[in-house]
Parts: sequence; C-alpha cells; structure tokens
Amino acid sequence: MSHERTLTGITTTGTPHIGNYVGAIRPAITMSHAENVISFYFLADYHALVKNRDPKVLKKSTLEIAAAWLALGLDTDKSIFYRQSDIPEIFELTWILTCMTAKGLMNRAHSYKASVALNENSATKDPDQGISMGLYNYPILMAADILMFNADKVPVGKDQIQHLEMTRDIAARYNHYYGEHFVLPKAIIDEKLSVLPGLDGQKMSKSYNNTIPLFLPEKKLRKMIMKIKTNSQEPGEPKDADSSTLFEFYKAFANEVEVEDMRKQYVQGIAWGEMKNILFEKINSELLEPRKHYEELLQKPQHIEKILQEGAKKAREYSVPFLQEIRKAIGFGLLG
Ligand code: TRP
Repeated sequence: MSHERTLTGITTTGTPHIGNYVGAIRPAITMSHAENVISFYFLADYHALVKNRDPKVLKKSTLEIAAAWLALGLDTDKSIFYRQSDIPEIFELTWILTCMTAKGLMNRAHSYKASVALNENSATKDPDQGISMGLYNYPILMAADILMFNADKVPVGKDQIQHLEMTRDIAARYNHYYGEHFVLPKAIIDEKLSVLPGLDGQKMSKSYNNTIPLFLPEKKLRKMIMKIKTNSQEPGEPKDADSSTLFEFYKAFANEVEVEDMRKQYVQGIAWGEMKNILFEKINSELLEPRKHYEELLQKPQHIEKILQEGAKKAREYSVPFLQEIRKAIGFGLLG
C-alpha cells in the first residue's frame, strides 16, 4: 500500500507559543504516529529570511523551534524532520516553478496585497516600499516545499489556504507542459483546534502581541494565565462557558469528561481566580516534562544539529532522485 504524505513547515521567526502548540505542533506530532503516513516536518528558514535580517535571531529561532518539536515528542525515526535550507533541491525547484508561475497569480496573494495596501496609505504612497522579491515570491517557495515531496496533505492554518490553491495552480501548469509529476496537494484545516485565543480573547498571534510563549518557566506561566481576560462577574454568579476565554483554553488541554464537568462548574458560579488556578495546573502538568526536556535540548545544539542533518539526509533520499526526473522532463541533463 502506498503511503500518504503529510507535510508542513514552521517559519523560524520568534519563539513558539501555546497557540502554535495547540494549533499545529501537537496535532502534527499526533499525526506522525499514524500508520501508513510519511510525515515531513521542516523548519522554513528560507521563508524566515523574508522578514528577518538578523542572523543571531534567525539562528536562535531555528534552535528553539527545533528543540520545541523534539521536546514535545516528535518521533524522528517515524517522521522526516529537516531544515529547509539543507535541501538545495527545494531551491532549484523554486526556480523551475517560478518559470511556471503567472505574475498575475502572485499579484493576487493576500499577504503581498496587504503590504501594498499599507504602503498606499502611507506618507510616500510608494506601493513597492519595503517589499522584497522574497515577499513577492513567497508562495512559489512554499509550492516548492510541498511539491518537492509530493505531499498529499498539508495541515495549515486558515491563512494559508490561498497558498495551497496557488500551489495546485502552479503544479497543474507544470504537469500540463511536462507530464504528471506533481500530486495536487490539499490543505488540512482543523477548525476546532486552530482558534486558540490569546490573552485578550482575540486569536493568539504574534501580530496581536497577545501570545503565551510555550515554555515559560512555571512562575511566569502562572502569571500570564492570571492575566487572561475575564469579565467582572463575582464568585457564585452563573457564568457563560462558551464566551469565556479561560474555557477555550481549558478545552484545548482537558479531556471531554473534564470539559463537561467544568461547564457545570461555570453554571454553579466558579470564581475566575479558581478557574485560573485550575487552568494553570492543567496546562502546566502537560508542559512540565517537555519543558525540562526543552531546557536540556537548548544546551545541546550539536545534538539538535545532528538530528537535523540526519533528517536532511532522509529528505534528500526523496528530493534528489525526484529532482533528477524533473530536470530530465524539462530538457536539462546529458546531451548524449
Ligand atoms: N507559510 C507557512 C506559515 O507561515 C509556513 C510554510 C512554509 C509552510 N512552507 C510551507 C507550511 C509548506 C506548509 C507547507 O505558516
């Protein structure tokens, strides 16, 4: 039986937060344990370069994000875990796909359009200000990430749906000219899990500055949880679970029975302070062991490097021969 291929990338900007964990890392790790699936998980450092000009920050983020995945139990024997910039074939494929991509398609990319719109409202009114070709070509690089390994399923957040549509477009155009080399991938969106709120109740996101870093020391984690927004209802007053940010968090960490029990406690008027304590204990107990492991791993960058090198080797067992096929199909290679 042929294996299904799942692939997702994590841009190496910043420190992973609880929203990344609940929305992406935890489900991806669970998926990696399934039978008959080959999972490709990678650190998208080429993508990080679009926004980052500080080599120290880039390196630190790569280390932290790799350490987080490993600390949380990614099984690197069962999955292929690598750094994008270790796979030169991705980069070569990016150029090939660039030549298959209509400029008009890139003009329509949401994130590019958002940057242009910001510029048009700025003092200079220069639509191109601060926009690199890296930002413009971002969706093509992402298509190369996915198509390089012919992934069928790509678990991502909702904001990435358009990138997946573009990937399919680009793949279809290539297939039309050179034959069916690429599978058209599907975005896998988990509605339930991708919406963890932040401290203020909006979606948790670095751009809203409302995140809780995943591996805060215990005391700091407690402090942050105490800051999660509630309303002014008193202890004993019945409370509405469904509009409560604390309850949303609780759902992401507790099992079904616990969630139903908590729903009852809301009706009975649980105090916000008590709820926050329960929530802290719940989150902390899940993160306790991984946090220790994370701290240890950060002290062993060479160990992480070795794992990434092994991952790159496994990834290139796919990418090298596949790129050979593609080079042949487009007319590169030996003349006789
Ligand atoms: N663009 C994705 C994000 O910002 C990260 C990413 C890069 C990615 N390449 C990918 C995700 C390939 C899935 C597949 O979240």
